[in-house]
Amino acid sequence: MDVTGHGVLVTGSASGLGAATVDELDALGAHVHGIDRRSDPSVDVTDPDGVAATVDAITDLRVLVCCAGIGGTGGMVVRRGEAHSLDAFEHTVRVNLVGTFNCVRLAAAAMSRLDPLPDGARGVIVMTSSIAATDGVTGGVAYSASKAGVTGMTLPLARDLGGSGVRVVTIAPGPMDTSMAAGLPAAYADQLIDDTAYPARFGAPTEFARLVAHIIENPMLNGDVIRLDGGLRMRAPDR
Ligand SMILES: NC(=O)c1ccc[n+]([C@@H]2O[C@H](COP(=O)([O-])OP(=O)(O)OC[C@H]3O[C@@H](n4cnc5c(N)ncnc54)[C@H](O)[C@@H]3O)[C@@H](O)[C@H]2O)c1
Repeated sequence: MDVTGHGVLVTGSASGLGAATVDELDALGAHVHGIDRRSDPSVDVTDPDGVAATVDAITDLRVLVCCAGIGGTGGMVVRRGEAHSLDAFEHTVRVNLVGTFNCVRLAAAAMSRLDPLPDGARGVIVMTSSIAATDGVTGGVAYSASKAGVTGMTLPLARDLGGSGVRVVTIAPGPMDTSMAAGLPAAYADQLIDDTAYPARFGAPTEFARLVAHIIENPMLNGDVIRLDGGLRMRAPDR
C-alpha cells in the first residue's frame, strides 16, 4: 500500500519506536495521528471509549501501528519466598496485550467499512511484540507473557481480516535505543550486545520505523512475526 494521503494511527506515539514511526510515515505523506497516555489529549490504549473516539475521528484510516507498551515490573515468579504480584502481572498483560487488541479491534472495524483500494486492500495493521516473547529471561515472566500474546494473535487476526483486505504483521524487536531499554543495568546491556551477531549495538528507532514502512508497502507480508534484532538470541542474565 502506498500510504501517501491516507490516515494512519500510531499508538505510543510520544516516545521511542512510536515517535520514530510517526516521523517516517509523516515523511511519506501520510496523515498521521497518535495515541499516547503522555500526549494531550491523554488516551490510554486500554480505554474502549477513548480509543473508539480517536479512531472515529480519523478520515480514511488505513494503517494502525501499535507501539504503546510498558516493560514488565514484577520480577521473578518467586523472590525470597514471596510470590509475584498478581496485580503487576495483570497490569503488564493489560497494557501490552489487551491494549493492543483494543486498538486492533476498533481500527480493523473502521478499515473494514472503507471502500477497498484498487488492488482490493483496505488496510494494514502492525503490532509490536518483542524477542522476549520467545527468548524469555529471568525476571521477565509478565513481559514475556504479554508479548507472546501479541505474537500469538498475529496469524488469527490476519486470517480473520484477510477477507476484508486487511493485513496484520508483528515486529519483534531486540533491544532498541529508547527510554525503555535505557533502564537496563549496564552489565546486562553489554551482555546483550555481546550476544548480538551483527551489528554489535542496540537497534535504532529509525530502523524499526523503516521496517514498518516496508511492511505497509509489501502486500505479501501477512500473518507473520519479523524479528528485528541483529541475530541476538537472549540468554538469562548471570546470577
Ligand atoms: N526498546 C526496546 O528495547 C524494545 C524491545 C522490544 C520491544 N519493545 C516494545 O516496543 C514498544 C515501544 O517501546 P519503546 O521502546 O518505544 O518504549 P517507550 O517507553 O519509549 O515508548 C512507549 C510509549 O508508550 C506509551 N504508553 C505506555 N502505556 C500506554 C498506555 N496504556 N496507553 C497509551 N500509551 C501508552 C508511553 O507513554 C510511551 O510514550 C513497546 O511495546 C515495547 O514493549 C521495545
